[in-house]
Parts: sequence; C-alpha cells; structure tokens
Amino acid sequence: MILVIFLTVCSFTSAIVLKDNGYEDVNIVIQDSVEPNWTLIERIKKVFTDASRRLFEATENRVYYRRINIILPKTWTVKGENNFKVQSLLVKGYVTVEEGILKQPHVRQQGCGEEGQYMYLTPSFLLKNGSTIYGKHESVIVHEWGHLRWGLFDEYAQQDHTRFYQHDGKWEPTRCTAKVEGRVGFGFRCGDSQSLKYCDVNNASRSMFGKCRFCPSISQSANTSIMSFQLVQSIAMFCDKDEPATPEWQRHNRRAPTMQNKMCKGKSAWEVMREHEDFSNGASPVLTEDTDTSPEFVIIQEAEAKRVLVLDISSSMNGESRIEHLHDAGVYVLQEVLRNGSWLGIVWFSRSATQKNEIVQITDDSVREKLIQKLPSNGRGGTCIGCGISLAIQMLEATFTSMKGCEIILMSDGKDGNANQLTTATQKAISNGVVITAVSISQAADPRMINIASDTGGKHFTYLDRGRISFAAVFSEAVSGLVTETDNQALTILSESLRVPSDRLHFTFQIETGLGESTSISVLTSLNVILNMTFVGTESYFEYSNVGKSLTWTVEHLKPGEYIVTVISSNHHTWDYIVKSLPSEPHPILVTSRLSTTKFDFSLQSADLPVLYVDVTKGKAPVVGAIIEAHVEASSNLCTLSPKDNGQDPDSLESDGIYSVYLLPKCLTNGRLNIRVTVNGQANNTYAIKFINGALSEDENEAGPEVISEGFQRFSLPEPIFVESFSSSTSDIVAPGQITDVNILNIVTVMTSKGERRNFTISWTATGNDMNIGQASSYEIRYADDIDTIVDNFSSAKTLDIGNVSLTPKQSGMTETIVISVNAEETYVDTAYLGIAAVDEAGNQGKVSNIVSVVVAKGFRMSFEGETNYTETEDEIITAPVTTTSRSNVDDNHIGLIVGVSAGVVIGMVVIGLILFLVLRKRREQSSKEASGMGQTSPHEHVNVSFVA
Ligand SMILES: *[C@@H]1O[C@H](CO)[C@@H](O)[C@H](O)[C@H]1NC(C)=O
Ligand SMILES: *[C@@H]1O[C@H](CO)[C@@H](O)[C@H](O)[C@H]1NC(C)=O
Ligand SMILES: *[C@@H]1O[C@H](CO)[C@@H](O)[C@H](O)[C@H]1NC(C)=O
Ligand SMILES: *[C@@H]1O[C@H](CO)[C@@H](O)[C@H](O)[C@H]1NC(C)=O
Ligand SMILES: *[C@@H]1O[C@H](CO)[C@@H](O)[C@H](O)[C@H]1NC(C)=O
Repeated sequence: MILVIFLTVCSFTSAIVLKDNGYEDVNIVIQDSVEPNWTLIERIKKVFTDASRRLFEATENRVYYRRINIILPKTWTVKGENNFKVQSLLVKGYVTVEEGILKQPHVRQQGCGEEGQYMYLTPSFLLKNGSTIYGKHESVIVHEWGHLRWGLFDEYAQQDHTRFYQHDGKWEPTRCTAKVEGRVGFGFRCGDSQSLKYCDVNNASRSMFGKCRFCPSISQSANTSIMSFQLVQSIAMFCDKDEPATPEWQRHNRRAPTMQNKMCKGKSAWEVMREHEDFSNGASPVLTEDTDTSPEFVIIQEAEAKRVLVLDISSSMNGESRIEHLHDAGVYVLQEVLRNGSWLGIVWFSRSATQKNEIVQITDDSVREKLIQKLPSNGRGGTCIGCGISLAIQMLEATFTSMKGCEIILMSDGKDGNANQLTTATQKAISNGVVITAVSISQAADPRMINIASDTGGKHFTYLDRGRISFAAVFSEAVSGLVTETDNQALTILSESLRVPSDRLHFTFQIETGLGESTSISVLTSLNVILNMTFVGTESYFEYSNVGKSLTWTVEHLKPGEYIVTVISSNHHTWDYIVKSLPSEPHPILVTSRLSTTKFDFSLQSADLPVLYVDVTKGKAPVVGAIIEAHVEASSNLCTLSPKDNGQDPDSLESDGIYSVYLLPKCLTNGRLNIRVTVNGQANNTYAIKFINGALSEDENEAGPEVISEGFQRFSLPEPIFVESFSSSTSDIVAPGQITDVNILNIVTVMTSKGERRNFTISWTATGNDMNIGQASSYEIRYADDIDTIVDNFSSAKTLDIGNVSLTPKQSGMTETIVISVNAEETYVDTAYLGIAAVDEAGNQGKVSNIVSVVVAKGFRMSFEGETNYTETEDEIITAPVTTTSRSNVDDNHIGLIVGVSAGVVIGMVVIGLILFLVLRKRREQSSKEASGMGQTSPHEHVNVSFVA
C-alpha cells in the first residue's frame, strides 16, 4: 500500500536519515524544466517501491526506503487543498529528475565511502515501461544508491585499457564476480562474428585488441554485483570480501582494474558498506523476509525562502569598515538577489538582540527599500550570537506554523561572550529544523560558527577584510536559490573586489548563447560619488550615471558576445563588481565548487591534503576543456591553482567534468581560507560530452560531443576551509601523488633457447614531487605473485631490480614508458601483480598506483629492460619474429591489428568525445601515411571499414 500525504511543514531536513532499517527523507527533486505530468509521479512511486525491495534484498534484508519526499517545482499546480509549500536547502545526497542533454543515470561522487552530491535520473528513463537499456529501473537505482549513499565505485571497465586484465595465462574481462558469464567481441553487444578471431582471451602472449569488450549475458545463472552489471537480470547482491567465509558466488574480484578497486584500495562493496554508519557497529540488523518495504511517498512543493538576517553590530564591526561593507553588500543583496515572494526579517545583536524588522514577504521595491533602511551602519557593544539566534527563532515561531527548513543567515566577526546561550539557541534551531547559514567576518570570528552551520544543515562562508572576494559575492552565495530551479537561476559571470583606490574601473565580460536574460552589472564603491558607466558590446552602447555608493545596470536581453565596461568616478576609492545573468535557454553551463573538507588539522599528518573540486556541466553532461583558476586567499593571496580534469591524482576520472586539485602546503596557513574560482571556456575548445561512466548501457552511446562555440565565464565560491596546527617551517611532508593509470601498452613474445620470453611495454603518467606538482626523485616498482601482498603490503613485495639502468621520473604529467621482460622455461599460466610508487628527495613515498597484472610462468624471472620511446607505429612490432605456436598462423592483417591494438590502447587513455575524435583522426592520417609508405594496408583503415559502423 502506497501512502501519499501532503505535508504541512515549512520544509524537511536536508539529510537522509536511516532509522530502524528504513531510509527517511530521501528527497527526489523534480526540476522546473520538467513539464507537469502526474504520470511521472505515479512512475516514480512504482519504480522506487520496486527499488526499495531490490535494495532490501541486495543488502541481505537490512535496509529499504521507508519515506520518500517528492519535491515539486512551483510551476506545477498541486490540486486541491493540499497545496503546501516548503522551502528547501539541499546540500547533497538527493535525487534530481530532469531531462538533461546527457541521458545516462549517474551520481556525482567524491571519494571512497563518501556520500555523493546527487543522483540524476531523466523523466524518459522513469516513464519507460518495462526494462530500459540500462536494465531494470530498480537495479539501476540500487546501483546508483551504492554510489550516492555509501561511496561505492563502478565494477566494470571505464576505459579501453582496463577492459581486460591478465590472469593465469589468459585475458579476463573486468567484472565482479569473476564468474559472470558473457561474450567477448566488438561493440557494446559483442555481436560482430569477425571479432572472435581478434578478441582471443586465451592468447595472453599479445595485447588485447582495444576494441574488444565483454558483454555480460542479460539472463544468466551467475550472480553479478549490482555495482558491476546492473543491466543483467540475475543481479542480486553486492560483492563481499574474497575469503573462504564468503559464498563463492559473492566473492569480490580484487584483480580486475575497476574504479572500485582503484578508489577503495581493493575493498569489496560490502567491506566499504560495513564501515559506513548505516551498517557499522551492528546498525541495521537483519529483518525477516516478509518485512513491508513499500515506502511512503510525501508530495512537497517547494516555496520561496523564509529567512531572518541576524547581524552582528558589536563595536569590533567598526574595524576595517566591516559594518559598512556588510551594509553595502546587504543593499546589493536586497536590491538584486532576493526574490520576490521570499520572506525576510532582520535582527541586530551586540550584547543583546533587537528585532529591527518583523518577517515580511518581499513583494515589491517599497518593501525592499524599507528593509534596506534596517541594515546597520555602525557598531557598539559586545557579542551575544546566541541572543541573536534565539530572537530569530522566536520571530519565525510567531510567523509560521512550522519552522522546519526556515533559515537564519548569521553574520558575525566576534567571539561569543555567552557560551551557554549559544549552545541553547543552536539546540533549539536543530530541534525545530531551522537551518543556519553562517558568514564569519574576518579571521577573528568565532570558529564555532562553522559547526553551527554544519550541525543545522547550513553552509558556512567567510568574508576576510582582504583579498579579492567582495562581501557582496559572499552575501549572495549565502542566500542560495531554489533546489527545483538549478537550471534557471542567475549565474555569476564575474565578481571581484579591487582594493587599490582608483577613480576608474575597467573590465570585460562574455555572454554566450543561452545566457543573457536580465543581466545585471553592479558596481559598489566605498564612497558617495558620481559614477558614469559606459558599456560597449558588438552591437550596443550604453551610458549610465548615478550618484551614490553603487550602481546597477540591468539589461533585459543581452546578445551573446563580449562587453567592455568602464566606470569613471568623481573620486578615488575601492571597487567591487558583480555581473550576473539568467539563462535564456535550457541547459546552461553550471559551475559549482566544493572542498573535500571544510576543516583541516595539520597535526594529523596521515590525513590527505584538502582537495578542491570544481564541477562544470551542461544539461548534466560533463564540460571538458575549461580553464579553471582557483585563487586561495587568507590575509593575502596565497597561491593560484589550476584544477584539472585529467584523471591524475587527485582527479579520479578523466573527462567527467569534475576538475580537481590539492591544496598544497604553500597554499595553506592557519585560519580561514577563501577560494575564488574563475572558469573560462574558450570558443571551440570546450566540449559538452554526452557520455559519462554512469549506469552501464546495453547500447553504445553514439552521441558525439557538443562543441561549445563561444567563450564563457563563470565565478564560483566554495565554502571556505579552516586550517589548524599548520607550521610553515614543516619540512617536506608532502609525498608524490598516486599514479593512477599504469597499463600494458604492448606485449611481445619470443621463444629463446631457454624457453619463452615476454616483453611488456608498460606505461603511466608521471606524478610530481609534492602530489602532482614537480618531479619525483625515484620510482619503486614492486611485484608479487598474489594480489593481496601488492595491495595491502606493498613494502613486502619484491622490488623490480632495475640494475644499472637509470629510471629518473619525468615531470608530472609526462608519459613514462618502460619495458619489463619476463623469462621462464615453463608455460605461462601464473600471474604477477605490479605496482609503482613515486618517491621524493626527502624519502616520502606516494600511494601505490593502480595494479596491473602480467601473465608469468612458474619460476619466472622479471627484469627491467629500460625506458622506451614506444609508439603505435614502431616497426619492431610488425617485423618481430613470430615464433610462438599461437602466433604462427597469423596473417598480415592480424599482425597489422596488433598495431591497431596499441593505437587503440593509447587512444583509450585519451578522452572520450571530440578530443578523442580529433586524436583519432590525426593518428589515422598519420598512420595511413606511414602504412602506405610501408606498402601495406593501414591497420586503422582495416579496423574502420570492418568493425566501426
Ligand atoms: C505524461 O507522460 C506520459 C508518458 O510519457 C504521456 O503519455 C502523457 O501524455 C503525459 N501527459 C501530459 C499531460 O503531458
Ligand atoms: C559624468 O557624466 C556627466 C554627464 O554626462 C558629466 O557632466 C560628468 O562630468 C561625468 N562625470 C565624470 C566623473 O566623468
Ligand atoms: C567556432 O567554430 C564555429 C563553427 O566552426 C565558427 O563559426 C566560429 O567562428 C568559431 N569561433 C572561434 C572564436 O573560432
Ligand atoms: C625485449 O626487450 C629487450 C630490451 O629492450 C630487447 O633487447 C629485446 O629484443 C626485446 N625482445 C623482444 C622480443 O622484443
Ligand atoms: C627517447 O627519445 C628522446 C628524444 O628523442 C631521446 O633523448 C631518448 O634517448 C629516447 N629514449 C630511448 C629509450 O630511446
């Protein structure tokens, strides 16, 4: 029985709660771009009811969905009296439903075991009756739930060079468990009859052809992990530790080069899940099979925000003109950012709190004007943050029937003088579901504000009297938009604070197609002056003047192009400016940024350095090729970083639209650090890729990337980080980064007088000295004949003796290619596992790389043959004597194909999408030239004609 009730609350908590085996407050957010359609709601109920059962079975009767909120946008008409509106503030862990340009269900995820940002499902996926190309709905949802809730990773191959791995004399397809049945061949369906002869898994004496794939049988008796092939009908479980206590059908495949193994250090799904609070310490004990797992569905409609500003007016706020900056930023936010229909009250506090404006709905400019009059302009007295929060809660209580989801925007620069009051007030906020967003003003602000924000489900921001981040930018981030309108809110294009006094300001900005509605160009100054603004675009010219401390020029429809803004003032002073614009078309380019942690204690050296992640998407498709700068600021600009989406540590996957970078010690200091992120897309050099490693599909995705043919700009401000126990005198404590892409480029086998000899050409991308910056000092290459030793106990594995040959690590980002040779007298039916760690000059050793396996024979000898300049067109491969029996009957074309293999592997490491196409085309041209020079058919031509269709 599915219950539907309409809620009478102000909102719901933002976090998913697990109570007595049932997940409550799982939020499914329908975006306002989705046309109202109640069939969709019925389908969501059906699909999630099935998913709840599947989740219950897959977790061995331990968890299911008990209550699911379906959150509707304001554009939907909710019938009858049940039209209850709520306000929401979702930070993470929700399901978003919208029809993006990318169709694959997927989750935006971070590290192993960490909660993901969101799960994305399209209406067309949900509305499809019966099985989809991704398998059954419930299997897809449980697969994505594994990513979203428990931070599990995929257990299928992500890239060409990880589709197969060498094991006991054969090529094994990447999968979990290793018992999953299927076919090997070309394309997603492995259908091509010719492919049989090229995708020979029994021949480990040569590379596997890059086009070969494994296609699991859709119906089969073997169990597969939900994180592996959710499209297989017999899936039922998550893999567990590979040990005798685990039933054989459930044993994790540690050897396969999956993201799960790479990100979670070889742990199975269940090992990661058992460490999660949902299952740890006996949480969620096993229930009986007849448990009713049908969720209750609650329909909620999102409403405008209900907020109280709680502003510090203590005497310290007079320092550095803080109260003035707060006032001016407040004027900007009240005039330009807060939406009509939203509610606002104002509280001032020093030693005690005063209501300066009751909570009113912002309906027109006169209300805004009245509220602006209530912004403080000078400070006096002490600091009682708790007094301010208590009063705001009283006001909310008096105004609304329920306070759940109502919001307090707290701004303070002081230490609270009354600790008890603060604790009591925060507790009251938590018990009433009031979310507190805190803005710390200056380094002196009470560090407890960070906890107040996170404990109540709010965000924390910082305004530091210095640097190039304006108070207006911080204030507008603190009043976030609606969760059902993510594709439909004003985007910040530029924002900067210029603190060197000047009588003029000059900047340019760019509007791309799809943007340009209600573009506002705002300038804030520190003095009352006459401002003359001129504004020049390709087809437009505007002039605008104002007397005062600010000027905003709003243009209803701005054409795409570049605009030059010049402002001349009657005096010298500091400047802030912000340019915002609304999308004019669906699927704008969106940028969000976040840090892996908002607190970092340097005395815990074992902790990884903080990582900045910047997401760039368009209609949920990853945008690649953007140039990102992250300016880290404390009391001065500490450093500028360039987050990359290249798959190198700390970036987990290339071309997924998540750009990542470590905050190295040189970018750190004690206290609060703010990061100003600017994103630039160059015309025709950025691409929206319509493929992501989401739910595996039965069909190949044929959609090419969308070229973004105009330049674009975005500004983003992540929550700041608070650093403790940092000492700049600390010696080199930062180890080299983890190498993440070790792979076999080529295998050559020859018979020698003593038996067989195999040369493995192995390649990886060099990491740096400090994480991925600079150049490491040496490599430690080790191997073992069992996987557990190399993964869990690297230092006890055998060191590959590199003898007198020198192997100096290259600069970070460059490709290393080496040859390892294996000699043995017996048949090659065993396996050795190889891992690499980079070491710096201080002896710090980086994390062990991904593991690559090579087929060996009993009593093998592995030796290092040196570096090589291997390329796919190297003659050696074609002319190498073919003497093993398995290769003796190979025809010319086949040998040609081995060339193709290598090219395929190299290409596989590059990018999916246009970048790939370009590379492919270039290689194809180059290679056909070379091939024709050699007087034989180009392997690539052959491949293309026969197999790519
Ligand atoms: C809702 O979606 C269903 C399934 O796609 C479709 O058949 C129906 O016409 C839609 N209804 C409306 C009102 O658009
Ligand atoms: C601003 O423009 C007005 C009218 O065009 C002009 O009189 C004034 O001198 C200008 N002020 C500055 C500072 O350029
Ligand atoms: C981008 O490509 C389009 C189509 O090829 C072309 O018209 C346009 O001029 C290019 N833009 C730039 C800045 O090169
Ligand atoms: C294996 O590598 C070594 C060193 O590079 C080389 O001398 C030898 O010829 C190679 N063997 C084959 C079969 O390529
Ligand atoms: C690879 O090429 C570079 C530049 O051409 C050369 O300096 C180096 O010696 C070559 N290395 C090997 C192992 O052939």
